[in-house]
Amino acid sequence: MPKQRVLSGVQPTGNLHLGNYLGAIRNWVESQSQYENYFCVVDLHAITVPHDPKILADNTYKIAALYLACGIDPADSKIFIQSHVPAHTELTWLFNCITPLNWLEGMIQFKEKALKQGENVGVGLLDYPVLMAADILLYQADLVPVGEDQKQHLELTRDIAIRLNFQFGSEEKPILKLPQPLIRAEGARVMSLTDGTRKMSKSDPSELSRIHLLDSPEEIQKKIKRCKTDPIRGLTFDDPDRPECNNLLTLYMVLSGQSKAAVAAECESIGWGQFKPLLTEAAIAALEPIQARYQQVMAEPGYLESILRQGREQAAAIANQTLADVRSAMGFASPL
Ligand code: TYM
Repeated sequence: MPKQRVLSGVQPTGNLHLGNYLGAIRNWVESQSQYENYFCVVDLHAITVPHDPKILADNTYKIAALYLACGIDPADSKIFIQSHVPAHTELTWLFNCITPLNWLEGMIQFKEKALKQGENVGVGLLDYPVLMAADILLYQADLVPVGEDQKQHLELTRDIAIRLNFQFGSEEKPILKLPQPLIRAEGARVMSLTDGTRKMSKSDPSELSRIHLLDSPEEIQKKIKRCKTDPIRGLTFDDPDRPECNNLLTLYMVLSGQSKAAVAAECESIGWGQFKPLLTEAAIAALEPIQARYQQVMAEPGYLESILRQGREQAAAIANQTLADVRSAMGFASPL
């Protein structure tokens, strides 16, 4: 039996935070030996909001280096840069022409981001989920490991595949495979350190709201010291009136690798003053090996470049085949 294929990606906008790691990359690493994996840095997605051209390329390489630092193994997984495989943009155009506008106008992330940008909303922001559908469907991916916030985008991806298969394929011979989201129970929705009801996000103006994977021990300590808590002694999971408490306990559980029962027992009668140093220590210990490996990867740019070159070649071979199949099904003349 061939291995099932996995595809996922992260945008090179700013530093990666614990939400990106626990919701996505950590899961890629843990299951990579079971699957055939493609992990891209989605630089074309990063320009759907205003961006700085001076730092886009650097940020892109940094994210690729962080994939390796987090434990992505090139023996199991291909790493590549989305814009280096032009089939992504071409398939997006073909999908654009079969995607109803109202499917995109209803997307939660579009509405949230559009609200922040006022009159400067670009067409690219609306089209973002179609590009994401192209990323996934080009590779005929079986599984897409992501955080919970991407669920709606995955549903749209499936709807686009169903529509294209229906309009231009046949039931016996579908053109595109329908992918499944892979969303873990723990860490799928890491919340902000300053508001337990909001998602930890790269776009939150407050740096104190998130821990970056490359934060120094001092920065981590400061952020946890200042994070929002509540006045109640005794820390418990799953109390809807204590969102910060649930988030911080979950972070502690995942970062320290303990079971929920063990953390619940350890924390049931302690206060925040005792808990915060435990969480700080767990976060520093979990991030330290990632940071050390990151420094090694960044010190050897030739290695990273060779991984990205190989990744691009292998990704392009599959992507170009799918693109050719879609073009042919839609009736385009073959290139001469
Ligand atoms: P991005 O860069 O915003 O997020 C990357 C991954 O991190 C997850 N994530 C979180 N998980 C848990 N808690 C959080 N607070 C949190 N914040 C972010 C996201 O769910 C995501 O898995 N649209 C994608 C990028 C993308 C993509 C793709 C993903 C483009 N094409 C194809 C998969 C497959 C995104 O929002 O990335």
